[in-house]
Amino acid sequence: MNKMKCTVCKREAFVKLPAHNAKFCPDHFDQFFLRQVSRLIKKFRMLRPGARVLVAVSGGKDSLTVVDVLHRLGYQVTGFHVNVGIKENNFSEESEAVTISFFEKLGLPLKIINLEKEYGRNITTFARRFPRLCAVCGLTKRHLMNDYALAGRFSCVATGHHLDDLASSLLANVLRWDLSYLAKNLPVLPAEGPFAKKIKPLALLSEEEVRIYSELRGIKPVTAVCPYSKEAKFKRYKFFLNELEKQSPGMKRAFYENYLKVAGIFEKAGTSELPLRNCKICGGPTPSEICTFCRLWNRTQSAQEEDQEINLGDGN
Ligand code: AMP
Ligand code: FES
Ligand code: ZN
Ligand code: ZN
Repeated sequence: MNKMKCTVCKREAFVKLPAHNAKFCPDHFDQFFLRQVSRLIKKFRMLRPGARVLVAVSGGKDSLTVVDVLHRLGYQVTGFHVNVGIKENNFSEESEAVTISFFEKLGLPLKIINLEKEYGRNITTFARRFPRLCAVCGLTKRHLMNDYALAGRFSCVATGHHLDDLASSLLANVLRWDLSYLAKNLPVLPAEGPFAKKIKPLALLSEEEVRIYSELRGIKPVTAVCPYSKEAKFKRYKFFLNELEKQSPGMKRAFYENYLKVAGIFEKAGTSELPLRNCKICGGPTPSEICTFCRLWNRTQSAQEEDQEINLGDGN
């Protein structure tokens, strides 16, 4: 069998990327990956050169890759990890340990918030009341991240969402024409009043490309799986898109990139109808008197009674 040759240097290639009509040796895959991220950062004005960025880190390959790449591109990275207190599979303990050792190796600052220590309970105490525990978990992490980013005057919060995450949620939202989510499935959400700017530097890289990069860089992500994982939520859509991708390489990226060209038409649908005010407890943005986070975590008697009415929302 003929050996594959790198499209750039003609040395032996170790990876074939049909979507890009390219084969790469390790060095040129690395260059390709860094170039893809830095182009996206420029195109969407995600970060100014050398900016201070707060990276939300789960301990998984995606968010560790964001840290690695942004650090290599010269940005000032601080990590932010929430220990949600899931004991099953030793999930939270392992996630925190992996995150700490990664940041120690790079010598970068890391902020850890432990829900049990800060709020006296862990996320699983909500499991019976909220069958969609991931939604409570996501809302909690987003609130804490936003708070910390604003207080520390970071330029933005970066997450590890990649092309497969964004294309699959796009497909799910198109299939039900959910206009408010279609307005927000973007690689950048600008700072708006009490909301910090949010960026997804891996938005145009597939999960497979992120996996290859992380292995090439020797990144050792957490292996434990969250027993409440919402992975199942978009799994069908990811599978479906990958089947299409096999037949038409590049289709997944084109689906998402072409959406980006027209996403502006959904903008109006994304604006909240309800005016926001300051939460009486934390001062954060909320359409009601007390925000959902405080209703969940800083529980007043009346808030406990209202639990049934809590709308958890969704989103990335
Ligand atoms: P997920 O919804 O679990 O796929 O996570 C999406 C992104 O949220 C990850 O890439 C991280 O950037 C961030 N994230 C997830 N879990 C945590 C966590 N425990 N602490 C901080 N950030 C997190
Ligand atoms: Fe939060 Fe799985 S990590 S529910
Ligand atoms: Zn090469
Ligand atoms: Zn609040």
